[in-house]
Amino acid sequence: MRKAIIAGNWKMNKTPSETTEFVRELLPLAENAECDVVICVPAICIPAAVEAAKGSNVKVGAQNVHFKDSGAYTGELSAAMLKDAGVEYVIVGHSERRQYFNESDETVNLRAQAAFKAGLTPIICVGESKEQREKGYTKALLEYQTNIALEGFEAQDVAKLVIAYEPVWAIGTGLTATDEQANEGIGIIRRAIENKFGKEASDKVRIQYGGSMKPSNVKGLMAQSEIDGGLIGGASLKAEDFSKVIHYGK
Ligand code: PGA
Repeated sequence: MRKAIIAGNWKMNKTPSETTEFVRELLPLAENAECDVVICVPAICIPAAVEAAKGSNVKVGAQNVHFKDSGAYTGELSAAMLKDAGVEYVIVGHSERRQYFNESDETVNLRAQAAFKAGLTPIICVGESKEQREKGYTKALLEYQTNIALEGFEAQDVAKLVIAYEPVWAIGTGLTATDEQANEGIGIIRRAIENKFGKEASDKVRIQYGGSMKPSNVKGLMAQSEIDGGLIGGASLKAEDFSKVIHYGK
């Protein structure tokens, strides 16, 4: 049985003081959540989030990580820096990073490796665009992105990762994949992992759905056999909404 994991992705929202306020409001609401709860906050908000969430079941994630250990990379953060700051998870390969910051499948793989080596759990995002879906390339694309993102990993390590299936057309658009489309996409990813790393890894790896997941649709999505959680953008910005999402079973 895989334990569900629900992660908020704040993107470029909230200041450090707003972060402290948010976490204080969230903690009592999140206390009895049955899933793992993560908030992926802007880098500048990490210290505030870590401090406010200390000793609680709410874990802190970052939204990106560089793949080098250190050096002349102005503006970047290494996995060791994040780890030392108290971060436990990091989003890698979000479609906004791929689209607006030219991140490639290869650097997504390097970032995932760097994060994992430093003791962080990468949340690796894959997903097709509207055009790719319409042309019938969803399966091929998901298999390709998954395989390349996981290159160089050992099967026992893949079992510990988190993958997020985020159809690009469903992100921030209000359009959600249907329960069946989301389940099918995640099924494709899990089969690709099984083919490359074996059944144990594919049975254990947790795969989230992301793309306009919110209080009104979380229950149906989470009831699907392949879906192990969610990566939540818009609906993670208000503690009350996010709390409804993490209590999807209630
Ligand atoms: P959304 O974002 O929930 O606002 O669609 C999800 C994401 O980009 O992770």
